[in-house]
Amino acid sequence: MAAMFLIISTAWAVIALVLLIVAWRLARVGRIKLHRNIMILLTAGAWIFIINYILVQRYGGGLGSFPSEYVPWIAFHGSLGLVPLIGATCLVVGRLMMGRNKFSTHFNQHHKAYGRTFIVVWFFTHLGGIYNAFFLR
Ligand code: HEM
Repeated sequence: MAAMFLIISTAWAVIALVLLIVAWRLARVGRIKLHRNIMILLTAGAWIFIINYILVQRYGGGLGSFPSEYVPWIAFHGSLGLVPLIGATCLVVGRLMMGRNKFSTHFNQHHKAYGRTFIVVWFFTHLGGIYNAFFLR
C-alpha cells in the first residue's frame, strides 16, 4: 500500500510539475478555459494526495520514518506545500463564486499576483517531494 502510494504520488508530482507550467503559459496567452480546467484538476489532485497521505499514514501501515536529521526539512516541505494548496483552493473557489461575496472579489481582483506566487511555491514543493521520494528513502 505504502509502496503503491509512493509510486503514484511521485508520478503525479512529475505530471503536476509540467501541468503547472502549461497552465501558467495558457493563462498568459489567453486560453483561459484550458487554464481553468487544468488548475481545477491540479487543485483537486493536491487534495486527493493530501487525504491519501493522511489515510496511508493512519491506516495503511505508514510510510516509514525519515532519519531524524531530515525532520525539520520534511516539516518545512509540508508547511510550504500548504501555502499553494490552500491558496489555489481560494483562487478556484473565488472564481467559481464570482461576484457573490467579498472573499471571491478579493481573490479575483488579485488573481494574477496570488496565482504567480502560488504556482512558484507549488513548483518548488513538487521538486522537494520528488527529491524526497528518490533520495531520502
Ligand atoms: C476556476 C479556476 C480558475 C480560473 C477560472 C482562472 C482564470 C484566470 C484568468 C481569467 C486569468 C487572466 C488574468 C486575470 O484574471 O487576472 C488568469 C490568470 C492567471 N491565473 Fe488563473 N484561473 C483559475 C485558477 C487558477 C489557480 C488555482 C492558479 C494558481 C494557483 C492560477 C494562476 C494564474 C496565474 C499565475 C495567472 C496569470 C498569468 C500571467 O499573466 O502571468 N489560476 N486565470
